[in-house]
Amino acid sequence: MTATCWTRTQDNDGIVWLLLDRPGSSANALSRVVLEELDAILRELALAVPRGLIIGSAKASGFIAGADIKEFTTLSSVDEARRLVRAGQSVFERLEALPCPTVAMIEGFALGGGLELALACRHRVALDDGRLTLGLPEVMLGIHPGFGGTVRSVRLLGAATALDLMLTGRSVRADKARQIGLVDAIARDPDGLKALACDFVMKPRAPHRPSLAQRALSWAPVRPFVKPRLLAQVRSKVRKEHYPAPYAVIELWSKYAAKAAKAYEAEADSIAQLFLTPTARNLVRVFLLQDALKAQGDSSLAAARRVHVIGAGVMGADIAALCATRGLEVTLQDRDAAIVTAAIQQQHAKMTERIKDPARRDAAIARLRADVDGTTVGEADVVIEAIVERAEVKRSVFAALEPRLKDDAILATNTSSIQLEALSSALQHPARLVGLHFFNPVALMPLVEIVRGTLTDETTMNRAINLARRIDKLPLPCRSSPGFLVNRILVPYMFEAMHAAQEGVPKEIIDRAAMDFGMPVGPVELSDMVGLDVCLHVGTIVSNALGKATPNLAPLEELIKAGKLGKKSGAGLYRWISDKPQRAAVRGATPADLQDRLLLILVNECVAALRETLVEREEWIDAGMIFGSGYPPFRGGPLQAARERGLDDCVRRLQELAARYGSRFTPDPGWERLRQPN
Ligand code: NAI
Repeated sequence: MTATCWTRTQDNDGIVWLLLDRPGSSANALSRVVLEELDAILRELALAVPRGLIIGSAKASGFIAGADIKEFTTLSSVDEARRLVRAGQSVFERLEALPCPTVAMIEGFALGGGLELALACRHRVALDDGRLTLGLPEVMLGIHPGFGGTVRSVRLLGAATALDLMLTGRSVRADKARQIGLVDAIARDPDGLKALACDFVMKPRAPHRPSLAQRALSWAPVRPFVKPRLLAQVRSKVRKEHYPAPYAVIELWSKYAAKAAKAYEAEADSIAQLFLTPTARNLVRVFLLQDALKAQGDSSLAAARRVHVIGAGVMGADIAALCATRGLEVTLQDRDAAIVTAAIQQQHAKMTERIKDPARRDAAIARLRADVDGTTVGEADVVIEAIVERAEVKRSVFAALEPRLKDDAILATNTSSIQLEALSSALQHPARLVGLHFFNPVALMPLVEIVRGTLTDETTMNRAINLARRIDKLPLPCRSSPGFLVNRILVPYMFEAMHAAQEGVPKEIIDRAAMDFGMPVGPVELSDMVGLDVCLHVGTIVSNALGKATPNLAPLEELIKAGKLGKKSGAGLYRWISDKPQRAAVRGATPADLQDRLLLILVNECVAALRETLVEREEWIDAGMIFGSGYPPFRGGPLQAARERGLDDCVRRLQELAARYGSRFTPDPGWERLRQPN
């Protein structure tokens, strides 16, 4: 068999070098073919054992990013999954069994299956060039390591460290990797890395062992005391019925303590079961959706270098700082010099705190500058407007701005509720106007809606998408329409919470119903987090524009009048202390239909948005809600959850709710189309 993915050479010292270069992709992943080829090579090496074996990557991006996730989606039975995993395990066992020194030579990253391969080598050496990332992030896909990683990580690092890596999915950088024993040695440059790998072959040494304290945790009499602590830790983060994988990791360790062949078999059985759970299927789907969002844009367009932000308030200042942190030259403008100066000072202080590397920090700080009068606006590739949410003010700023823009500069607005058509009327070249709708807080929310007005041209869309990618956001193109995508869908959900509250359901119970479904926070808490003034403003605009009735908004208006705006003012629907809502200990059952009221009215709005083609693909509504509002990824998104529940059942339930609570629950006509086979 000729290898298509691996190149194999032997040097003068008799060391075999195996470099992985999987064709057709920029990063290496362990596909079936990659593993089959490796297996064949290892069989040969077992017959003619070399002085040593060094495994590395021929790709500039890094070592191995994990298993090939697309192959997961083709698994149709637990048996098939088990066979695939057992086959992978046997390749790594063959590697581990080679009697010569084996060294994984890691650059960039070794993640998931990639790190598992490295764990099957006797040693690991790595290049610390600031990029190194090692980890076992499988739990994020609803599974756990399956190629022996649950066993070898515990043996190498000890239970505390290995379980922490597997249960959290967190990755570690060079220093930490060296400190915990995940890598044996670190090199500072690529030549040094090769020399180091050779050294570990030429001067054989014993493999790393965890400390006695770490080993003791896996002793049979100790495990029963450690297990409940681990379970409690996991339980405080995720529920077993939502995310079974971390619970399975604890179960495997507590039963087998990484010992003997049984541990590998149990690992395979466990992961094979997990593969077929809705959680894993949905998380894999969401991962692929994220990749699809990332793959957008047009790389043939000149990349933006300079960004000018107008409006140094909550959003503008954060957007400016993010752009500067990601390497763009940024100027910040406001109507008042004092506001810009204060915003810049505050952002510089945040950068000082967040960016540890002094050179990177100083460079980022230097890239964010004040430009109160907008004198440099003519040099900007992109101008982002984030001023007060009033169409006439935005229009007058645009009209004054446009003649000073570079010919090919694009103009982006961060408006959350004004349709683009109402703003582009102020422009000579309305094709250059696009919505770049960030979510608050800018640094944490992964999504940016890229809003296309009727006159926005393709190049402007692509430029905006490219910019979003440049600053590591997930761009979601959507049509200009009231509330765009995410806010529009959230409005009926948050208003339904208000309806329930006005019927007398305690807010704690309303939030619990949503969190029981998997929402990270309930709708009442979310309203406080967004700000009640913002909720009222956006909610009214969206409802009015779509001709929908609202709940009684007087109580909300009163809170706002009293300065109780939510989290930002320390009080809103909840009282907030140290950024935490103060919940009363409310007893009483959750009304049986409450969860459906909240979540089905939300799905119904998704169906309407799809019917109105606010986005081009059904899955993008799911992606938008997951990355823009925190909708639980393990559900795969609202439309996916509806499909899993059964579309007919959703419609029937909406009809029941409509009969009980009113026409706001009437199933949208779009359900009909959704029910047709694709
Ligand atoms: P903000 O009130 O915190 O900041 C607005 C800033 O614009 C103020 O510093 C103000 O001095 C400045 N400004 C007003 N008129 C100006 C003018 N003519 N020229 C220059 N600067 C001017 O408002 P925030 O919350 O940052 O919102 C800004 C925009 O972002 C709005 O369009 C809003 O709808 C949108 N947005 C807000 C979100 C939020 O959660 N706050 C989320 C997403 C979008």
